[in-house]
Amino acid sequence: IIYWNSFSVSLEHNPIPEAVKYAIKIYWEKNKFGVFRKVNQCHRRNKGLSELMCELKCRVPLSTLKLGDRPFSGERWESSLPIQSLQVTLGALKTCAVVMSAGAIKGSSLGAEIDSHDAVLRFNSAPTEGYTKDVGTKTTLRLVNSQLIMSEKADFLNDPQYSTGVLIMWDPAPYSRNLDEWYKKPDFNFHERYHEYRRLHPEQPFYILSPSMQWDLWDVIQENSPIDIQPNPPSSGMLGIIVMMNLCQQISVYEFLSSSRKTALCHYYEEEYNWQCTTGHYHPLIFEKRLVQHMNRGSKFDLVTFGKVTLDGYSLHTC
Ligand code: C5P
Repeated sequence: IIYWNSFSVSLEHNPIPEAVKYAIKIYWEKNKFGVFRKVNQCHRRNKGLSELMCELKCRVPLSTLKLGDRPFSGERWESSLPIQSLQVTLGALKTCAVVMSAGAIKGSSLGAEIDSHDAVLRFNSAPTEGYTKDVGTKTTLRLVNSQLIMSEKADFLNDPQYSTGVLIMWDPAPYSRNLDEWYKKPDFNFHERYHEYRRLHPEQPFYILSPSMQWDLWDVIQENSPIDIQPNPPSSGMLGIIVMMNLCQQISVYEFLSSSRKTALCHYYEEEYNWQCTTGHYHPLIFEKRLVQHMNRGSKFDLVTFGKVTLDGYSLHTC
């Protein structure tokens, strides 16, 4: 357990906690995804907002598996992968909300504000039922990881909460971004479950993020961080923020950077207490949060009171 709760507004200037440094060390020893460590890499030069936005816009475009992306081809994949792009499916979006699952959103009464956005993104098994006052009712998209899809507890195929809105899934892939390698050895063996879900819910759009997205994003996070970060993919939360920056003009992110309600409660919908859910262990979460803090257009008041960060969409920046 990490007893570290000085984590809030001045994130960017806070030292990296020792427990996070230790996690970084052990994950580099494993280096499960074969990340290339760039020797003498030039860590973090303070970039302006526009420069950072353009870096993300150019280097981390939205990318989902498409028909014909070999080896994801053949009859089964052809009948499962969506034909339309995510942009076409959702249409133009002005304002979007990204609702993190952190325990700190409990008691926020943000539900109505969240629902007032054109689109709302939620993560993994985060429910609305029973929590609508704090998290709202609308689910336009849900980003799920392959672990959730394969978990018995989640009952992904049958639980009706997953059948609302557009689904997007991701699976930790090799750093090489090599589709053949990933196809043969996904982190969680999700292929059959994906096909089965598509068979049961043929009308619901269900996209798979390309491995390039997680690692192109990881590269940008690493290059803008003061030290080596965990050699593991970014969290679902950070991937979701980038998905929405591709799709929306303005994005409100709730409880990614902690409000004054910060708590060790891991998720608003579960009784598990662990600071690592907020500071990161496996994911380079603390570095993701520093980057998001750097891009925040909103006020300090919004952050402290509502845990709200306001970000520009890619379309607002001409690079
Ligand atoms: O745990 P899960 O991945 O389902 O949560 C969704 C996202 O919310 C995380 O990937 C992380 O980015 C964010 N989160 C957080 N602090 C928490 C719990 C989740 O920042 N305590």
